[in-house]
Amino acid sequence: MIKIAPSLLSADFRNIEKEIKKVEKCGVDLLHLDIMDGHFVPNITFGPMIVKAINECTKLPLDVHLMIENPDSYVESFVKSGADYLTVSIEACRHLHRTISLIKSFNVKVGCALNPATSFCMVKPILKDLDLLLLMTVNPGFGGQKFIESVLSKISQAKKFIEEHKLKTKIQVDGGINPQTARLVKKAGATILVAGDAIFKSKNYCKVIQDLRK
Ligand code: DX5
Ligand code: ZN
Repeated sequence: MIKIAPSLLSADFRNIEKEIKKVEKCGVDLLHLDIMDGHFVPNITFGPMIVKAINECTKLPLDVHLMIENPDSYVESFVKSGADYLTVSIEACRHLHRTISLIKSFNVKVGCALNPATSFCMVKPILKDLDLLLLMTVNPGFGGQKFIESVLSKISQAKKFIEEHKLKTKIQVDGGINPQTARLVKKAGATILVAGDAIFKSKNYCKVIQDLRK
C-alpha cells in the first residue's frame, strides 16, 4: 500500500491552511514538514511554532523531517507541537541509538534519513528499531531538485534486507519525486512517497497524487 506525503515546503505559505485542505481532499496519508536549520543544510525553514499552527489546521498525521544539527535538543518541542513521525538525519547524529531511543520514549513514530552519498550499511544495526527509513533522493536543503537515480540500488538493498529480516520498517523517499520517478522508486521498494513541487506546482493536485499512487 503506497502512502503519499505532500511536502509543504513547496506550498503557498500565504495560504497554508487552504493548501492543506486542498491536499486533504485528495486523500493523502501524511503531511511532510521540512525543518532546516541553516547548518546541517544550506537553508532555513521553520520550527515548532509553525508545526503547531499546521497541526491545528489538520487531522492528518504530521511527518516531521528534521534536517538539523543536534536534533536531541528539539525532539520534545516537536513532539509537543504535534509531530506524529519524527525523522532525524543519520549524518547529524553522533549517538544515533540514543536519539532514536529518545524519540521512542515520547511514543511517536521514528525515522532515520540517509543522504544520497551515505551507504545503507550505516543504518543496518538500528533498522529494526525504525518505523521509517528515509532514503533521500536529492541532497537535502531545497525543493524542486532533480532526482538522483543512483539511490535506486540503495532502495532495493534496503528492501531486500527488510524482507530477509522480516522487519516492519517502511521505506520512504524524498526529493524529485514525480509520477515518472515514482514508478522507479516503487519498483525498487519504496512505499511512502514525499512530493513537493510535483504536487504544489501543478494545476491539479488530486490528479498528480493519483498518478503518484498508481
Ligand atoms: C528536501 C526536502 C524535501 C523537498 C521535496 O530537502 O526534504 O521534502 O521539499 O521537494 P521536491 O518534491 O520538490 O523535490
Ligand atoms: Zn523532506
